[in-house]
Amino acid sequence: MGAKLLGTGSYLPPKVLTNEDLESLVDTSNEWIVQRTGIRTRHLLEESELASDMGVRASGNALEAAERSAQDIDLLLVATTFPDMICPGSAPFIAEGLGLTHAPFFDLKAGCSGFVYGTAVAHGLIQSGTFRNILVIGIEALSRVTDWEDRRTCVLFGDGAGAVLLGPGDEACNETSGILGAALFGDAEKALYLHTLAGGTRHPASAETVANKEHYLRMEGSGVFRTAVPMMEKATLAALDDANLSLSDVDWIIPHQANKRIIDALVRRLNVDEDRVVVNLDRVANTSAASIPIALDESIRSQRIQPGDVVVMTAFGAGVTYGAVVLKV
Ligand code: UT7
Repeated sequence: MGAKLLGTGSYLPPKVLTNEDLESLVDTSNEWIVQRTGIRTRHLLEESELASDMGVRASGNALEAAERSAQDIDLLLVATTFPDMICPGSAPFIAEGLGLTHAPFFDLKAGCSGFVYGTAVAHGLIQSGTFRNILVIGIEALSRVTDWEDRRTCVLFGDGAGAVLLGPGDEACNETSGILGAALFGDAEKALYLHTLAGGTRHPASAETVANKEHYLRMEGSGVFRTAVPMMEKATLAALDDANLSLSDVDWIIPHQANKRIIDALVRRLNVDEDRVVVNLDRVANTSAASIPIALDESIRSQRIQPGDVVVMTAFGAGVTYGAVVLKV
């Protein structure tokens, strides 16, 4: 008995930053950003908002869609790369915001693959009977760790959160919806492709690390670009193999929303119809661990994705981590 999807939710902060707005911050142009990435706008947290607030809102929407209350949550699993606080993370603040009294919670750090990793972990925990209802949240506030003077990174990211409530499928009804397969991978040789040098125990924060901007996210953009496509292709095929399905059984692919050119290349390699691929990065940019649950929730709410549809969610991210999950909605 695997994990069934009970409800989805997402939240984007209202403030929108356009490519034209960025033209006044760094030496860039709307044309460059659109051509190289496909991104046109991104949502950013206001100074007064917390990243965990986004998680609370996305979770509330997922619970409402599932017609459940916070007290039905048996485990809260928060996928995020940059938590509210390095210690204790983001999960306790989301638990507090949801009014959870005793349910366990933890952060899962797998970069932009965090939501896919988290969903696969939740599936295993439900399958083994360890927990019943698990709320998996993908949340990221990259605007807080972006160097707004670095045009190579600041044009790429946005803030947001998405959540799914997973629960046990009903064996008695021979339930076939829910998570059908998963495959997770890592490649630690590429650990520094995406990193934040200082602020951890290897390079504790100091006045010098801050002056050197070592607390900001750094990226080896073209290295990430080159490896992202074969990684998401491999993960997609492996997850389908795990589910005993093939690409012809798939209604929708939701890739991590990093760059339209990466998604286009994936579509070509998999040889799938691009109309079956969900893309929202033009509006929301790269929201890291939140990108897939936001796209999933938007597609379900707009009824683009229908009950019974088979969806493959595939991601790559810092670590380097990559993976995919096959979900029957
Ligand atoms: O979730 C995972 C996180 N990261 C990613 O997924 C990123 C993956 N990588 C990418 O999406 C692409 O590599 C980028 C969008 C980051 C860059 O695109 P690219 O086609 O690989 O460009 P490039 O890095 O080779 O740079 C080409 C030129 C350079 O100028 P020169 O050296 O040729 O004169 C850059 O300095 O474009 C310049 N450039 C920019 N120009 C205007 C870099 N960023 C900008 C910018 N505006 N924002």
